[in-house]
Order: sequence, then C-alpha cells, then structure tokens
Amino acid sequence: MAALWILAFLALIGFSSSQTSDCSYLVLLKHLNLTQANDVLQIMRPVKNWATATLVQLDMLVYGILGVDEKSQTITSHIWIHMQWTNEFLTWNSSDFCGINMLNIPRSRLWIPDVSIQEDASDSGSIKHSPFVSLSSNGSVQSNSRQRLTSTCQLDLLLFPFDFQNCNITFFPMSSEASVIELGTLVNDSTVSELSELIMVTRGEWDLEDIVILLEPAIKGGSKNGKLVYSVKLVRKPMLYVINLIVPLFYLLVLDLASFFINGARGEKLGFKVTILLSISVLLLILKDMLPSTEENLPLMANYCVVIFALVGLSVLEAMLVSFLSDLDDYQKAERSVKIELEADNHKEPDLAQEEGQMKPQQSHLPLNGPSSNDLLNLLLEEMKAARQEAERRDTDMGVLGFYKRQACIIDTVFFFLYFLTVVIYLIYMYSIWIHQYCIS
Ligand SMILES: *[C@@H]1O[C@H](CO)[C@@H](O)[C@H](O)[C@H]1NC(C)=O
Ligand SMILES: *[C@@H]1O[C@H](CO)[C@@H](O)[C@H](O)[C@H]1NC(C)=O
Ligand SMILES: *[C@@H]1O[C@H](CO)[C@@H](O)[C@H](O)[C@H]1NC(C)=O
Repeated sequence: MAALWILAFLALIGFSSSQTSDCSYLVLLKHLNLTQANDVLQIMRPVKNWATATLVQLDMLVYGILGVDEKSQTITSHIWIHMQWTNEFLTWNSSDFCGINMLNIPRSRLWIPDVSIQEDASDSGSIKHSPFVSLSSNGSVQSNSRQRLTSTCQLDLLLFPFDFQNCNITFFPMSSEASVIELGTLVNDSTVSELSELIMVTRGEWDLEDIVILLEPAIKGGSKNGKLVYSVKLVRKPMLYVINLIVPLFYLLVLDLASFFINGARGEKLGFKVTILLSISVLLLILKDMLPSTEENLPLMANYCVVIFALVGLSVLEAMLVSFLSDLDDYQKAERSVKIELEADNHKEPDLAQEEGQMKPQQSHLPLNGPSSNDLLNLLLEEMKAARQEAERRDTDMGVLGFYKRQACIIDTVFFFLYFLTVVIYLIYMYSIWIHQYCIS
C-alpha cells in the first residue's frame, strides 16, 4: 500500500515539474507571437526605427563550375548563398527558455530581403531555398539557399584556348530602396576562394583561379553599399584543345610541306594535298561549333586555322599548276613524236621496197634453219645495232626535259622555299603574339 502511495506521489511530482518548466519550443514561439501567421512580421522590414538600414551579410561559395557556353556567353555554376540579417523584434533571453538560443522558422513566416543576382539568366526552379530560416536569440536571422546559376558573362576569347575569364556575380536588392538595405560580407575574399577551392567537386575544363569581393554603392556616390560583386576568375585547361586542334593542324601543315617531295608526275601529290585540305576543313567545323560569332576580338585560334587553310589551299593550287605544265609538255612531246614517226615513215617508204628480201632488224626471232653462219653473224650485228639505237633514243627522251617541265620544276622549287619561309615566319609570329597577349593579360 505504501509503495502504491509513493508511486502516485512520484507521478504527481513528475507531472507538476513538467508543467512548471516546459522546455519545448512552444513557449518560445508563443513568446515571439509566432504560433499563428503573423502578417506584420512578414510585411515589415524588421527595424524599430524606419531610418535604420538593414545590414544583410551575404556569402557565396562556388560548389562547381558546370560549364561555360562560348556561343551564348554564359557560365553555369553551382553556388551556395548564405544570408544573415537582424530582426529587431524577435529577440529573447535564452536563459529564460531552458537555454534555447536557436529556432528554425518556416521561411514564409518572416520578412526576407529580396537580394538577387544581376547576371542571373537561369530558368525558374534552378534556385532551391532552405524551407527554414534560423533565428538566434540576439535577433539574427540566417537563411541558406543553393542555386544552379547560369550567369551572363562577357567572355574574352582572344587567347582561346589559353584564355581566362573574369566573370561578375552581382548581388543587389531587387525592389528595395538602396538606402534601406545595405550589403556586406561575413568572410573575406581569400577565405571564400580557399573554401570554394576546397569544396569544389566539378570543375569541367575550368579551374577557379580566385574570387575577389567588391562592395559598391548602388548609386554612384551613395553612402551605403547596395551592391556586392563577386568577381570570379576562371582559367581554362587548354590541353584538350591543344591535342584536338593545334597539334593536328600543325601536323597537317608539316605533311603538306613534306608532300613537296612526292613525285608530282603521277597526280598523287595533288590528291594528297587535297586530302590534307579536307582534313583541315573538318577541324574548322569543330572550331566553328565552339566559338561564338562575335566580330570583335576574333580568337587567335581562328586566325591560325584560317591561315593554315589558306596556305594549304595555295599549295594545292601550285600543285595543280605544276601538274598542268607537265601535262602540257607530255602533250607537246606526244604531238612531236607522232610528227617524227610520220616523217620517218615517209622516208622509209622507198627503202622498204629495196630491203624487201632481207630480214627486218626489228624482228627479234631469228630463223633457225636456212642461212649460213656468216649470215647469222651479220644478222646478230644488225640486231644489236638496232637495239642500241632504240636505247639511245629512249635515253635522250628521258634525260632532256621539255620546256614546260623545266618551268614547272623551277616554280616548284621556288614555291617550296617561299612556302617554307612563310610557314616558319607565320608560326613564329603566332607563337610570339600568343605569348605576348598571355603575358600582358
Ligand atoms: C500577436 O499576433 C496577433 C495576430 O497578428 C496579434 O493580434 C497580436 O496583437 C500579437 N501580439 C503581440 C504581443 O504582438
Ligand atoms: C547573434 O548570434 C549569432 C549566432 O550565435 C552570431 O553569429 C551573431 O554574430 C550574433 N549577432 C550579434 C549582433 O551579436
Ligand atoms: C565586374 O565588376 C567590376 C566592379 O563593378 C567592374 O569594374 C568590372 O568591369 C566588371 N567586370 C565585368 C567582366 O563585367
């Protein structure tokens, strides 16, 4: 019986003690008048004196660089935004509420500064706010959001693929007056850079060089900082383009130079050169897909491609000229030999009748039975003479080039040296410009 009484007593004590010191959030919510939707807290900028500006401290971290679109001049990144400001109405003494010093409240219940990004060109839905904001006992409100940000950025592609881009991400209050919302940061540039560098997962072909934070008045000469600019510097990793474009183009150029040593007579040279020209146009197509069609500051890369294309085109034209000249010579020679043969036939006509009975020297088969050994020797001599004459005639034909062929040979040699010189000078020029531009910027 006594045990029962004790149990009942204990239960009573437990009940009453839980009644007196309620450590749930409910009491605090009641204290802050947040149990029901409170329109005033949603509508009003939370300051007691309207002339006080609200300082919004904003930090951005770059989680990833998803892509840079050269054609539409946009950069897609994954960013994390942390904002912090003070609500002067929502403060409490944490010792009065079991030491609660932090409270999560649905975002929709409170006034939120409408800070947005000037360069933002993302679709709707690319931003994801945390459904809650954190409220501290001193009135500080913290809100987090992450965003797949597509921001516009004027890309400078002159040095492509060795380029780097400076892109601004400008935060500003969208509809509030410049005087009532002031922007600031919690951490400095180097910390943001280091943190971003540390947490960045995807980079693609880009490296984050550094982030510089600039605070500017919204209006020129204003006293309050209404604009917060994150200037992000990205550096391209050029290796892919070096392997895919620059080196193949260079090799094709070298091949074209080497093709001057192919024997031009059989038309192989021309075919080879045209193949090289086709390969270069394929590479040009790849480049066309990557570069924007902005007229100013045409990338040096485009210059490189077009000049190599033009050079190879020129050498194809030259090969055509040379092959045309050789053909002209062959044609003339054929004409001449036909004429000579005709003349020879005319001269031979009377002789033929005279030598009717004898063996023809061209005839190679010797009759086996018939003439004596003396006649046989004579015949052999005749045969050998004829063969020698034939050989000599062929030799002179091969050794002495025709007029046009000689011209073609000279043109080919001179062109080759000029071409080689041009290529070397151009490559050195291109290299020095690239290096120079890279160093000054
Ligand atoms: C709490 O909010 C209600 C509803 O908006 C309002 O009627 C009431 O006056 C508020 N009380 C305090 C103490 O702010
Ligand atoms: C309020 O508290 C938060 C979190 O404890 C702190 O980060 C912030 O600096 C405090 N604000 C002020 C004005 O003391
Ligand atoms: C970025 O912003 C700064 C400061 O407003 C400005 O000086 C700079 O020209 C901007 N850069 C770009 C690429 O817009």
